[in-house]
Amino acid sequence: MGFKTLCLGLFCVIFLSYIYTPIPDNIEETWKVMALDAAAKACTLMALSLENVGVMRYEEFISMIISLDYTQPLSDEHVTVTDTAFVNIPVRLYLPKRKSEAPRRAVIYFHGGGFCFGSFIPYIGTYSKKENVLSYRLAPQHHFPAQFEDGITAVKYFLQDKILRKYGVDPTRVAISGDSSGGTLAAAVTQQVQIDPEVKHKLKLQALLYPGLQVIDTSLPSHRDNEHGIVLTRDIAIKLVSLFFTKDEALPRAMRKNQHMPLESRHLFRFVNWTTLLPDKYRKDHEYTEPVLGKSAYSLPALMDPRALPLLADDARLQHLPRTYILTCQYDVLRDDGIMYVSRLQNVGVPVFHDHVEDGIHGALSYMTSPLYLQLGLRIKDMYVSWMDKNL
Ligand SMILES: *[C@@H]1O[C@H](CO)[C@@H](O)[C@H](O)[C@H]1NC(C)=O
Repeated sequence: MGFKTLCLGLFCVIFLSYIYTPIPDNIEETWKVMALDAAAKACTLMALSLENVGVMRYEEFISMIISLDYTQPLSDEHVTVTDTAFVNIPVRLYLPKRKSEAPRRAVIYFHGGGFCFGSFIPYIGTYSKKENVLSYRLAPQHHFPAQFEDGITAVKYFLQDKILRKYGVDPTRVAISGDSSGGTLAAAVTQQVQIDPEVKHKLKLQALLYPGLQVIDTSLPSHRDNEHGIVLTRDIAIKLVSLFFTKDEALPRAMRKNQHMPLESRHLFRFVNWTTLLPDKYRKDHEYTEPVLGKSAYSLPALMDPRALPLLADDARLQHLPRTYILTCQYDVLRDDGIMYVSRLQNVGVPVFHDHVEDGIHGALSYMTSPLYLQLGLRIKDMYVSWMDKNL
């Protein structure tokens, strides 16, 4: 109890010290967003302080906070919600109650949470009534490729004839989607499924909502513009994504300086070269600086693996991708990852629809529930759901 009271007291003090941080003019519901940002930054600071004094790790504290938001599967008059497993991967199923003569469409959804947090996030059920949500193993207890392997295993299981039949799903109308780190996994799994000879039924669509798609260049215009971004700062994005690969603190330290990649990764930089892949509007007057290669002492081949960083896939791999929806937010460190993926897919002829939200912030879909629900979250949900509904 003493610990909780101390935490609450600390939280209030830090919250109040952050609450007057200015936010961009075009963001609506200014006060709610300021409060949300202050709350996120206060939690971050507390988590980092507790980590520094050795009480608990940063991600353990944040997990504790996020788990307060956990919901049990809750059915209603339209949909039956149950938790089950595909092979041994936990999955939450949303099955419509209404009988249907025709086979149904299905969406396989990967939740976000920086690879470290989240399981079944409550907002998902409100997206539409046809989602199946996967829960994959989390960092830092499990590093890459555990998350990718869980995703592939569950998706391949679902795409089998007998399983599709069991759920009454039309094999030609299955989509995959995800937000943030869930978008990373959705993109990586889609690339693999489309070329996997064992998979007979391919995916019809992928929808990626403010996904992270690369980490080899950490000095993109969006990293610079949103260094102290709302809710997600560049520092925290780097901390979380590095835990996906390793617990070695040398990685995030090097990533902050953009000096984390080995010499033999030089050929990959054309896939993330924002001087050619970003439209003018996002480049603004930023100057390109080459990442410094070959300074790191660790060896992490995963940093060059497209299954972890889908933007590193070559054109031959990208060509097989299905019709794609990508949503990006202006005030988001990950903004340029999504936009560069749009350019790369367009360059190889994949049909891609890009929704850019000028007043969007990272994680907007997570802010659709009380107490701080944002119109922005509802608006983004509607954009995504209406595209899916038309195209799936
Ligand atoms: C990125 O592109 C620019 C030209 O637009 C070029 O000068 C630079 O060398 C490229 N960087 C890498 C690492 O390929």
